[in-house]
Amino acid sequence: MSGKPSRTGETLLEFDSVDKYFGDTHVLKDIDLEIDEQEVGVVIGPSGSGKSTLLRCTNRLEEIQSGEIRLDGTPITDPDADINRLRQRIGMVFQSFNLFPHLTALENVALAPKKVKGVPKAEAHDDAHRLLERVGLAKQTDQYPAELSGGQQQRVAIARALAMDPQVMLFDEVTSALDPELVGEVLEVMRDLADEGMTMMVVTHEMGFAREVADSVTLMADGEIVERTPPEQFFEEPTTQRGRQFLSKLL
Ligand SMILES: Nc1ncnc2c1ncn2[C@@H]1O[C@H](COP(=O)(O)OP(=O)(O)OP(=O)(O)O)[C@@H](O)[C@H]1O
Ligand SMILES: [Mg+2]
Repeated sequence: MSGKPSRTGETLLEFDSVDKYFGDTHVLKDIDLEIDEQEVGVVIGPSGSGKSTLLRCTNRLEEIQSGEIRLDGTPITDPDADINRLRQRIGMVFQSFNLFPHLTALENVALAPKKVKGVPKAEAHDDAHRLLERVGLAKQTDQYPAELSGGQQQRVAIARALAMDPQVMLFDEVTSALDPELVGEVLEVMRDLADEGMTMMVVTHEMGFAREVADSVTLMADGEIVERTPPEQFFEEPTTQRGRQFLSKLL
């Protein structure tokens, strides 16, 4: 992978026998998964298989019923965990951009560092400028979300997540709501992040991205991990029948 720093091989994010129920529905079943530092872990699977729930549990937007999720050895899911502190270490970007409509791109990116981390305004704005430049929006810093395209808004959302200097970035179908011609610019930003060595967990239907950028492909079905393989293997010869079925529907 061009320019990508070599991986350290240290586990950064760890799912250990994770179970999640919504009422009586068992939506995550004994999930064991490790994402290493600088790994791009792509998660795929049919609708309802539990992909979003897995990411949401990682950020404690949902609570798990048993097992443990650890970030860099710290149990995220411990009831005593400092969840606000942990959330700063986990950036999350969703399908819907959720930008504040009354704030400019720059203000959207600078807001959390100022409010949550107490970064002085001038410094937060300098950082926000730099981040917006990094996602290709140097000229749009003073525009409001309504004045930006969907692809531009999603790139602001990525910059906003990066502004907290997270250790890992979670992406949940961030290109699914975009017009097809805007998908590429967002994937490009994600590819750059991967090249710079960001640890990423990416739920996506973009199989080109999975094939080219992922270090691992994890296939989920019915709340279980069906297989987890390097992309070369997954796209050539999945190791499971369900993997072969899923792939044959894609092709
Ligand atoms: N808040 C909720 N309350 C009850 N059930 C839920 C809730 N959120 C998700 N579920 C259920 O949990 C299961 C997993 O849903 P999840 O959204 O994680 O799937 P997904 O793989 O992300 O699907 P998609 O590809 O459609 O986004 C589904 O059966 C879903 O109906
Ligand atoms: Mg989902």
